[in-house]
Amino acid sequence: MPMINIKDLSFGYDGSDKMLFDDITISLDTTWKLALAGRNGRGKTTFFKLLRGELDHSGTITGVPPTVLFPMDELPDCEEWKVRKELNLMGADPDIMWRPMDTLSGGERTKLMLAYLFAGDGIYPLIDEPTNHLDRQGREAVASYLASKEGFILISHDRAFLDRCTDHTLVITKSGVELVGTTFSTWWENNEQRQESELARNNQLKKEMGSIEAAMKKNAQWSSKAESYKNRANAPSKVAQNHWTRAYEGSKAKKLMSLSKNLEQRNEKKLEEKQSLLKDLEREQTLKIFGSTHHDKTPIMLKDVTVLRDGEVVASGINLTVGQGQKISLQGTNGCGKSTLIKFLTGDEALMNEGGSSITATGDIHIAKGLKISYVGQDTSVLKGCLYDIADDRGCDKTQFSTILVKMGFTKEMLYRDVDALSLGQKKFVMLALSLCERADIYLWDEPLNYIDVYMRKEIERLVKSSDVTMLFVEHDKAFVENVADECFEFG
Ligand SMILES: Nc1ncnc2c1ncn2[C@@H]1O[C@H](COP(=O)(O)OP(=O)(O)OP(=O)(O)O)[C@@H](O)[C@H]1O
Ligand SMILES: [Mg+2]
Repeated sequence: MPMINIKDLSFGYDGSDKMLFDDITISLDTTWKLALAGRNGRGKTTFFKLLRGELDHSGTITGVPPTVLFPMDELPDCEEWKVRKELNLMGADPDIMWRPMDTLSGGERTKLMLAYLFAGDGIYPLIDEPTNHLDRQGREAVASYLASKEGFILISHDRAFLDRCTDHTLVITKSGVELVGTTFSTWWENNEQRQESELARNNQLKKEMGSIEAAMKKNAQWSSKAESYKNRANAPSKVAQNHWTRAYEGSKAKKLMSLSKNLEQRNEKKLEEKQSLLKDLEREQTLKIFGSTHHDKTPIMLKDVTVLRDGEVVASGINLTVGQGQKISLQGTNGCGKSTLIKFLTGDEALMNEGGSSITATGDIHIAKGLKISYVGQDTSVLKGCLYDIADDRGCDKTQFSTILVKMGFTKEMLYRDVDALSLGQKKFVMLALSLCERADIYLWDEPLNYIDVYMRKEIERLVKSSDVTMLFVEHDKAFVENVADECFEFG
């Protein structure tokens, strides 16, 4: 069994006040199908970089086979027939290997990169979030493909996906790492139970410490009273005065002292236990969204609309009405034109003419006059520079913007950082935070939950569900769609 041995590993980025890994010692069997999980910004991608020897660290990492990373900038050299075989296994059209990368849909690109990853001989695949851009069938196909392989590490925020294709799980928690021989969901359930019992114990300890503190207070009052009785004139009665002999004074003081020591020790023990609890409890944060209300009750109405890119039809026969306060999910397979339609609806010239190709539409198109639109696109690379400047450029309230980001776990120092030094989930969250700061009549969100961790997904779901904003969105997260959408609009 080829093992990766990690001993006393510590690492934190320069300029950051936080250690991402602090004295970690673990062994990983390279034949495992290993899930690597943890909240946004905990260090999953950094862990891959450490395994690949790209970062200076203390401690040792030995036994790492040659690795290839997904997603990769360039496709590695592989024999054609092997790539073709892998594509077939994934149920993908093998001819995509002959098409230029930038003409492939996100899902097709993912499948092609995975095929190259597994077509290589003797390499250890490190796969960083392959599920974004994959539609439901695509996710299913890739999950069963990975389930048939062995020996890789897979990062994903999609629980169901991880469970389908992994047998071991490494979780980066708040206080360290945990390695288990189960699926992520089993770890999650056990962890929830553990947190619950730690919470119960914590409350019990709080109560007990309260009683001890009350007893300590009483004791202290006694002591000071006793002290004042030394001046007999202060004693409340003649009897008390007469009782106040030196011997009595001495024994009473001793008893009080030992009682107080005992109480202090008991309290300290409980405090120690209390401090060992809830180290990994993830605090839930509450986000807010304030939409505005346009006087038009149907801000968007499309009748028999055709969307074109450079004059070529992308989608046709679109009949879509978005009523005020409605949340509509746009659905359809990869490449059917969901993002193209959303970009068209923004009316933003820059988005409609991105990358030198232009989006147009024909048919009966009604977009309410003066409609205030807030857009979240898929591509996080549009973010450039320091976070505060980005917020400024968008005309966002900086206080509100930073409050939202701090709730997401950003430190104040990160707000002055360049976006390049953020994790993928953090970048996506910046895009969401900008949108949450905008009072819009309609929110157009294109795959808002890509790269976002499970805790934050749940919070965003609650937020959208409980608000009366109008929203048109594309999202492959089944739970989110089911809980949030008033209506689903099928494409294609
Ligand atoms: N080059 C860098 N310089 C400084 N800090 C960085 C740099 N790259 C990443 N970080 C910070 O280190 C932390 C871990 O980042 P990493 O990308 O490893 O997280 P992750 O677990 O992969 O998150 P996600 O799920 O969002 O992809 C984050 O807080 C991030 O902001
Ligand atoms: Mg990452």
